[in-house]
Amino acid sequence: MIEWNDSLLIGHDVIDSQHKELVGLLNGLEASTGRGLMTKETRKALEFMSAYAEKHFKTEELLMHDCGYPYRAIHAVDHITFVARQMAFASAVNNHDKDTANDIIAFLESWIKHHISVEDMEFGRWLKAHPPC
Ligand SMILES: [Fe+2]
Repeated sequence: MIEWNDSLLIGHDVIDSQHKELVGLLNGLEASTGRGLMTKETRKALEFMSAYAEKHFKTEELLMHDCGYPYRAIHAVDHITFVARQMAFASAVNNHDKDTANDIIAFLESWIKHHISVEDMEFGRWLKAHPPC
């Protein structure tokens, strides 16, 4: 469980609201595991992650491109990792791996702590330092 608070804000409204959605997914999944997470719920979470990656990474990468963010290529590698993990989880669910829901939770927690709170935050700081972006 990660509580959404101002320390997670990078300072860009659209990106912040998308990040909040991912924290919501994580917390929803964690709350559900207490009741024994069903494959159906795990698949739904993975569908969310797939759509999220498609929409959110496009938002970030387009903004990085338009603003000339110098670290966009290395940042995009992280995004590719997210997509690869999502696909690996989908395959694990199809193979009836019972640990997948917990693996997704661990991954999302790590992603929020290490990607959003570090890499995206750095981009947010860079944006502030380079108006009007
Ligand atoms: Fe990012």
